[in-house]
Amino acid sequence: MNPKHLLPMPLRDVLRPTYQKALRAWQESRLSPKPQSWREGRAKAWSSPSAEALLEQAGTDFGITQVPFEILGLLDKLRALQPKTVVEVGTHKGGNSFLFCHALASTERVVGVDLCVQNAARLIHYARPGQRYFALHGDSQTQAMKARVAQRLAGRSVDFLFIDGDHSYAGVKADFELYAPLVRRGGIIALHDIVADHRTRYGRDTGCYAGEVYRYWAELKSRYRTDELVRDPEQDGFGIGVVYVD
Ligand SMILES: C[S@@+](CC[C@H](N)C(=O)[O-])C[C@H]1O[C@@H](n2cnc3c(N)ncnc32)[C@H](O)[C@@H]1O
Repeated sequence: MNPKHLLPMPLRDVLRPTYQKALRAWQESRLSPKPQSWREGRAKAWSSPSAEALLEQAGTDFGITQVPFEILGLLDKLRALQPKTVVEVGTHKGGNSFLFCHALASTERVVGVDLCVQNAARLIHYARPGQRYFALHGDSQTQAMKARVAQRLAGRSVDFLFIDGDHSYAGVKADFELYAPLVRRGGIIALHDIVADHRTRYGRDTGCYAGEVYRYWAELKSRYRTDELVRDPEQDGFGIGVVYVD
């Protein structure tokens, strides 16, 4: 008999969130056993490969939804900034978090926020000596999550903020308004999916979804010094918008 069936259903429902939280904490701890493939992946990431090689590894070890020209261009800009503290909202499978940890030699603390930060244990395992990766699972658009982020920052201001979470107009605006004040003067904020998808532009549903980030981006462009990393203006979604916090 499956031991979990020994508990009555209502009690199981009450205990499930606590059990899942404890399991996640165990998997993300240093003490839990890690697969050989993780150890090999970590050694590869620590061996200072090129940004192109790391981008490939981000895809194979984690998963990433970026146009190479755009994310590599962003990494170039960030290398000049030498960020120590990074916050990413909307980590999905973790490929970007992996790049921010390993393609930027300066990063010491990276905080990833998602409803569920996938591959969190692997990201934590890959962190370099002296570097910390914090995975915060939950809704980014709450004061409670902002407080959790601030707690992990432990008094540091943010050098680089990447926003790629809820792509509705209200969602991207809420993420910007909540987390932008944490970014220091001279820092950078980047938004993903500033190019409207083909469904929005031509009424043709290709399965690509960039939401309404383009609408909020138009507003930011009128308020801040900005830059755009867009491989092709005709492309279906994607595109990275860069805001300079002057
Ligand atoms: C487009 S994906 C991010 C892709 C990722 N940055 C990449 O390049 O591979 C958007 C992510 O935002 C997350 N998300 C959506 N709404 C959210 C919310 N309110 N709070 C936290 N995360 C959210 C989703 O769970 C999803 O993983």
